Amino acid sequence: MEKFIVQGPCRLKGSVEISGSKNASLPILAATLLFDDVVELKNLPNVKDIYTMLSLLESLGSKVKINKQKKIIKIYKSKKIKTFASYNLVKTMRAGILVLGPLIAKYKQAITSLPGGCSIGARPVNHHLNSLKKMGMKYFIKKGYIHAKVDKTLTGNLIRLPKISVGATENLIIASCLAKGKTIIKNCAIEPEIKDLSNFLIKAGAKIRWIGKRTVEIIGVKSLRSISYNVMGDRIECGTFCVAAALTEGNLKIKGFNPKLINTELNILKQTGAKIQLKKDEINIKGNNIIKNIKHIKTKEYPAFPTDLQAAFMVLLCKAKGRSIISENIFENRFMHVAELRRLGAKINTKKNKAFIEGNTKFEGAELMSSDLRASVALVLAAVTAKGKSIINRIYHLDRGYENLEKKLSKIGAKIKRIS
Ligand code: EPZ
Repeated sequence: MEKFIVQGPCRLKGSVEISGSKNASLPILAATLLFDDVVELKNLPNVKDIYTMLSLLESLGSKVKINKQKKIIKIYKSKKIKTFASYNLVKTMRAGILVLGPLIAKYKQAITSLPGGCSIGARPVNHHLNSLKKMGMKYFIKKGYIHAKVDKTLTGNLIRLPKISVGATENLIIASCLAKGKTIIKNCAIEPEIKDLSNFLIKAGAKIRWIGKRTVEIIGVKSLRSISYNVMGDRIECGTFCVAAALTEGNLKIKGFNPKLINTELNILKQTGAKIQLKKDEINIKGNNIIKNIKHIKTKEYPAFPTDLQAAFMVLLCKAKGRSIISENIFENRFMHVAELRRLGAKINTKKNKAFIEGNTKFEGAELMSSDLRASVALVLAAVTAKGKSIINRIYHLDRGYENLEKKLSKIGAKIKRIS
């Protein structure tokens, strides 16, 4: 199994190019199932989850052509589409559930593995299923599979999501594009990745209109037209490098991402003392030698603070002068990194969904274990700022969502290498 060896501490300086967004690419890839003709996608990140989604599409009958160098992927439709999404593929990546909406909208049937829970929480898909049911989908669950069908066609309806869910919003938007009549979805998630998905679909001829802060209206069309689309930059990767600069008294030019989309995170970084200058698609961030504590960060749905950056910000607050609190309000078990950060010297106590962070930590290198994607990157950040050598095991979690992390970090001064 591959691991990282990190020698710290380092100050990170230089420029970083942000890769394409994993969490925008995944629903866009699932949505290609709606098309009859080829779809060209540019700027998809070269990460494991993308390849898992491509394998899933291939298993459903799509043909995939990849130009890795140019970062262009073309997805063609074969005549023999299958509607069975296997456990083997869906279990490794929960976003596999996103093929349900397009399969049922286009092919009127699907047998899709239930994704099951994962290390950060139970992550049910009840809101995906109940909402599609309101559009006419019938389903039953047997032996871990959702057996779904629709008699004639999905039919538009007024749907109010009982809970804001990124995945359920995406599944519904995708499915509604080919449904009969008008669908209105209320209480939607409005993450930038969802707006990217809807821009992609609109470009292909879908009739999608955002008619309120969390309300979207979709009028079904007969078909979508073949297009080429450039996926947005990765919001979480961008936030991670911003933290890296603030944490190491570094100085980074972060390119390829619209700073307006991470306003909340940048404001918190400013409060910790980082100096930030913004340009179009560029962030210049300088870390201060004194990191100020933050009273309370609460993760919440966009545009509030993202759960996917909770672990990285916790590392920063460990080094702050004074106490901070982080509340995790999205997932019930997303503090797995805490025990590992303690191994580096962090003083953090958790009670229910709150982490109480002492601050003033001088990290010292240790051997660590990754537990999930975002926890892993937090361990890497902590190791970069720790004194001495750290070993980070199970970095396959990281490879699911960060493109060339060690190359990007090495280029800006980190001493990090991957070994088998
Ligand atoms: C997406 O997951 C992201 N994944 C996650 O990123 C991200 O952490 C999460 O949104 C929140 O921002 C992708 O975009 C591929 P949700 P998703 O549905 O769609 C509960 C990463 O590291 N819920 O918004 O699964 C659920 O259990 C990943 O890149 C239900 O109860 O998240 C959770 O507590 C991790 N029933 C909350 O809602 C449902 O039917 C939010 O989940 C659906 C969700």
